[in-house]
Amino acid sequence: MGKSISGFSKLSKSKKIDWIVNSYFSNAEDAKRILKQYWNDDLKLQQLHDEFIENTISNYYLPLGVAPNFLINDRHYTIPMAIEESSVVAAASKAAKFWLDRGGFKTKVISTTKIGQVHFMYYGDFEILNAFFQNVKSKLIKDTQGITKNMEARGGGIIDIELRNKTQDIKGYHQLHASFETLDAMGANFINSCLEQFAKTFKAEAEHYDGFSSLDHPIEIVMSILSNYVPDCLVRAEVSCPVEILSEDPSVSGIDFADTFIQAVRIAEVEPYRAVTHNKGIMNGIDAVVLATGNDFRAVEAGVHAYASKDGQYRSLTHAKVENGIFTFWMEIPLALGTVGGLTGLHPLVKLSLELLHKPNAKELMQVVAVAGLAQNFAALRSLTTTGIQQGHMKMHLMNILNQFKANDSEKMALTTHFKNHTVTHSAVVEALQNLRLTIEK
Ligand code: MEV
Repeated sequence: MGKSISGFSKLSKSKKIDWIVNSYFSNAEDAKRILKQYWNDDLKLQQLHDEFIENTISNYYLPLGVAPNFLINDRHYTIPMAIEESSVVAAASKAAKFWLDRGGFKTKVISTTKIGQVHFMYYGDFEILNAFFQNVKSKLIKDTQGITKNMEARGGGIIDIELRNKTQDIKGYHQLHASFETLDAMGANFINSCLEQFAKTFKAEAEHYDGFSSLDHPIEIVMSILSNYVPDCLVRAEVSCPVEILSEDPSVSGIDFADTFIQAVRIAEVEPYRAVTHNKGIMNGIDAVVLATGNDFRAVEAGVHAYASKDGQYRSLTHAKVENGIFTFWMEIPLALGTVGGLTGLHPLVKLSLELLHKPNAKELMQVVAVAGLAQNFAALRSLTTTGIQQGHMKMHLMNILNQFKANDSEKMALTTHFKNHTVTHSAVVEALQNLRLTIEK
């Protein structure tokens, strides 16, 4: 079992499926049935999804949930979240409600600059290279005019190009380090197209630049690509309230709650093992909204984690303090997002999610996404430092097991009541369900 094939991409969808199920599955018919079960009956919609990527054989669903009651800069939001992990949407909703009653979230976009680089090799004198760069810089920009015209008309475009000497790291290594404003587009295509044009012009001009006459091919381009590290595309989200209204549990004072909460944040600020999990919880919220709004969550993940290690150690992205009786919890993160282009105009659920969010521009979306991350972290830390997280998780775990065994509504209700006072384990749930079914049969 298991084969290789040439010309696979040229086969029709049904031939691709035939080949896969016959080559890799013990029960070919069953595999085919599952793949087809996830097709959309609406052929146009199915074709749209087929064409997002290559070699599509089915659709892979994730649940789309919503977290209502977010108040962000005095505006109400219900946030769409596409995620497979139980408890995340519930946690976001709880945090939203908690802060709704305490003034809501405050956010601010700090900067929106994105970066791209042409990486190249040059083995001559840096002063000559620099003179050449200064000479050719305006032509680099001019030659991209076909690409930048529309973006410039809307107020964006190339901000600057710098020449960087990286020979201390690798012999001969230099960069054109360019910065861009891409407005409401994530900007990957725009930036990459500009960079490839810079590279072309840069190399071509170098071939007949007098200063390089002693070198055969003075510039060797290695690659041209945007950076997903965007420390200057930054958003801040914050919540604050008087410390005495922070605890919802009458047996715990606000200041005690805050103290433990702040200790938990401090631990994540100094301890990488904890910081990674802490930030993973933040990304539960961020990725879910990034995905629901058709953005590139891998790019966001890479950029955010790099930012978390910007001073050489991986640290918590969130911070907390009490000052003058006010508890403040905040986060600054880099987010390169788009609300035009890419999937945003194509995927019907992405369009719907954006409409649900009041059709945001990229800056507004950055703020919503940051809030989802901060809310998620607040909810996680609140659970971890009070009840522990298993309590909430176990409710969802119970439901997942009941669904796995196709429990009907009345069985679900009976067992949810039963497990309020019993520990949820896989075997305990299966046993309780079997007992219930036996009792009903009798
Ligand atoms: C689980 O997906 C996320 C948490 O582990 C985050 C955290 O520990 O802060 C609960």
